[in-house]
Amino acid sequence: MSQSKSPTRPVWDPLIRIGHWTLVIAFFTAYLSGDDLFSIHKWAGYVVAGYVLVRIVWGVIGTRHARFTDFVRGPGAVIGYMRGLFSGNVKDYAGHNPAGGAMVVALLFSLLVTTSAGMALYAVEDNAGPLAGIVTEETFAPLASAFGEEGEHEGAEELLEGVHKAFVYITLTLIGLHLAGVVASSLAHKENLARAMVTGRKQVHEEA
Ligand code: HEM
Ligand code: HEM
Repeated sequence: MSQSKSPTRPVWDPLIRIGHWTLVIAFFTAYLSGDDLFSIHKWAGYVVAGYVLVRIVWGVIGTRHARFTDFVRGPGAVIGYMRGLFSGNVKDYAGHNPAGGAMVVALLFSLLVTTSAGMALYAVEDNAGPLAGIVTEETFAPLASAFGEEGEHEGAEELLEGVHKAFVYITLTLIGLHLAGVVASSLAHKENLARAMVTGRKQVHEEA
């Protein structure tokens, strides 16, 4: 590829880039430590949760291509872009393309639910963590009786563990689609988008 010769411009600010790769490491650390290394699990999970919160704020007040208004588009634009991927006819976008933008929102949401459920589980199980005293067994009393047979305590735990695990798998599925999307868009735009997430620079195109 001769893309190094094409002019490029800065697109992803350092918060986005450092945040992205920190998130990747923290997510897989949390995933791999979920079963038996809780002291690591907890802190890796907090890094994920903290970054997601920072990223949401940055999506409102951050640099141009970090803002949700720059890349959240309607379903029509997302479908149109994905059709274009298959027919080899895609418009160029300086920041996230419409499908990538939808994926960012889906990933952030899924990570938010995963980590919130993890913290709620920790609060109910051990009365510890940032949600201790805020989320208790009583919070789930109305729902808990529908789950578990040994009273409210197990019911709330079972429910939260179920949500935590389900969203871990939903997130993993999204990550698989995210990676497929990065590969497909990199091929369609003839630009290594993973490298752009490292350097922060993308080729200069007329903006769509
Ligand atoms: C080695 C694996 C990964 C690669 C190569 C990769 C690559 C990328 C690329 C190229 C983008 C920018 C897409 C675009 O140009 O529009 C991006 C964005 C993003 N990726 Fe990944 N990704 C990886 C793993 C992950 C994982 C595991 C997560 C979640 C746990 C994740 C979450 C995100 C998020 C939230 C964004 C949006 C960036 C932002 O605007 O803040 N990625 N990724
Ligand atoms: C995106 C980040 C996270 C991922 C990928 C993740 C993943 C996992 C996985 C795979 C398990 C094992 C489930 C099983 O039993 O098979 C687990 C358990 C658990 N996670 Fe997380 N988790 C995350 C964040 C958190 C956070 C922030 C907390 C709050 C401190 C947390 C608290 C827990 C608890 C209490 C358990 C049950 C541990 C046990 O009782 O053995 N998780 N998590």
